[in-house]
Amino acid sequence: MAASMTERPKTEEFNKKDPALDLSLRPSKFRDFVGQARVKERLELFVEAARGRQDVLDHVLLSGPPGLGKTTLAYILAGAMGVNLRATSGPVIEKPGDLAGLLTSAERGDIIFIDEIHRMQKSVEEYLYSAMEDFVIDIMIDQGPHARSVRLNLPKFTLIGATTRSGLLSAPLRTRFGMNCRLDYYGADDLKAILLRSARILSVDIDDPGAREIAGRARGTPRIANNLLRWVRDFAQVKANNKIVHTIADQALTMLDIDKHGLDEMDKRLLRVIVEKFAGGPVGISSLAVSVGEEPDTLEEVYEPYLIQEGYLKRTPQGRVATDLCYQRLGLKPKNLQERLL
Ligand SMILES: Nc1ncnc2c1ncn2[C@@H]1O[C@H](COP(=O)(O)OP(=O)(O)O)[C@@H](O)[C@H]1O
Ligand SMILES: [Mg+2]
Repeated sequence: MAASMTERPKTEEFNKKDPALDLSLRPSKFRDFVGQARVKERLELFVEAARGRQDVLDHVLLSGPPGLGKTTLAYILAGAMGVNLRATSGPVIEKPGDLAGLLTSAERGDIIFIDEIHRMQKSVEEYLYSAMEDFVIDIMIDQGPHARSVRLNLPKFTLIGATTRSGLLSAPLRTRFGMNCRLDYYGADDLKAILLRSARILSVDIDDPGAREIAGRARGTPRIANNLLRWVRDFAQVKANNKIVHTIADQALTMLDIDKHGLDEMDKRLLRVIVEKFAGGPVGISSLAVSVGEEPDTLEEVYEPYLIQEGYLKRTPQGRVATDLCYQRLGLKPKNLQERLL
């Protein structure tokens, strides 16, 4: 491996969660949660109505790509309702008994937060239906001739499910959520506001054009924006007396191979493979995954949604197709669409 490759962090690192950073920068109130106006408005009203009735909040499903604020909103909802939140995730709940344990130990009104709820096992998921709807759970105890089913009554609780793939949720589960909210990628203004807030918390000296530059190159994602801010801060510390201005932000991000349009190495590798190896597509997700050396799930959850939203990729029944814009970004002459699709 070339030495130069180990010297700087890989771009993919900036998609990753850093629990400590997430925690310190995570807004704890609706007031501090930037953007997603429609989702916020609906959830605030939902809370106000439940509180007004002194009722328990109905179940909420939060969906959208990673790093957009699903976990943050779950904690904000708990704070706004004044209840406890217990967090777990789909793959961690292995047996129906694990779920029963979690639910029976809750108090009335508590929020049970299940992250990656689309990855919960089918056998466990089925127990959730009656738990969510009727607040009872029937579990089998003993085996063989002594096996019998015992009904446990549960306190009235709120389930908040988070998922990057709401399409993978079964219909019975999806319809049991009283509120279904989809988070979208953030615009540059919102990301800039998030960055300025984070900079204040981290005591980082940054000017407006510096924040705007990072915001424009953060793939519409608050978590990436915060992670990039940390990288640019380090860069500024070494090269620019700790002050982040436009040129410093630009140099720092260019060093990470994040281009002017916010596309990172992996984005560009993906687009290039579709164009160069598959003649612009259509190409299936699994062939694509093998070619770029990434999991198909990661491509679908992390990379594809942004590239589709930004108009670089199209999803067709035959597979993924590169758009004219994609050719343009790669500095190539757009291939005739007609010729490719028909
Ligand atoms: N609307 C927002 N305003 C401010 N910061 C945000 C917002 N959404 C997300 N963040 C920041 O991004 C980080 C990732 O958010 P998180 O809720 O963990 O995303 P998800 O659960 O959707 O993957 C959090 O630490 C938080 O600091
Ligand atoms: Mg999360």
